[in-house]
Amino acid sequence: MLSISLIAAFPELVEHALDYGVTGRARRQGLWRWQGFALHDFATDARKSIDARPAAGGPGMVLMPVPLDAALAAARQWHGEKSCVVFMSPDGAPLEQARIREFAQNTHITFVAGRYEGIDQRWIDANADAIVSVGDYVLSGGELAAAVVIDSCVRLLPGALGDAESATFESFADGKLDWPQYALTASGAEQIPAELAKGDHATVNRWRIKQALIRTWMRRPDLLARANLSLEEIAMLDEFTEIGLK
Ligand code: ADE
Repeated sequence: MLSISLIAAFPELVEHALDYGVTGRARRQGLWRWQGFALHDFATDARKSIDARPAAGGPGMVLMPVPLDAALAAARQWHGEKSCVVFMSPDGAPLEQARIREFAQNTHITFVAGRYEGIDQRWIDANADAIVSVGDYVLSGGELAAAVVIDSCVRLLPGALGDAESATFESFADGKLDWPQYALTASGAEQIPAELAKGDHATVNRWRIKQALIRTWMRRPDLLARANLSLEEIAMLDEFTEIGLK
């Protein structure tokens, strides 16, 4: 079972987000468990302060080490052992599917979500095993970023997805985007691409791979540059671009 904890100002934000669909069902099936640790519960003063002004001035507030230490100690106790501590921050390494696969191999993960101007650097240096960003934009807190990472890890757990193949053929699984999908409905049947309508397995397969290549070429050339394309795939892409891929 994957055990995930979250240290945050507002852990409830994540709890509710993950209670639906694949992640909610996986939790009820016992594939993963979760516990939030609200920083305000670990404040030591009467005003329940979790942040302070930045040293040497500047705008905003910085999360203080003491409540974070106490929350991490509580999280460790809940896990029963040392967990991998992942700090969510726009300053971290941008997340990719390969990294999600690595995270999903862990059995104990503690996500730490920043708020305001961030977290005291001494605490990050002493405790973070990884610093992760969900993209080059700034959220008002790391909670939703943590929800994104948890969702993408949990759906990879064996048994989480209804169709075991779903995670094998999806976008990024092999360095390409996914091919276009069409719902099998009686009314729209005449409008789907002819290759899919025929129902011939080899034709469908070739069409899908080619469409995935074209889509990746048009939308994400950066992915294609890193993908290990087979000679057959290069030929398919050539058919489309007619300029060749060297
Ligand atoms: N917190 C605020 N913005 C973030 C981002 N882009 N990724 C991860 N955590 C964040």
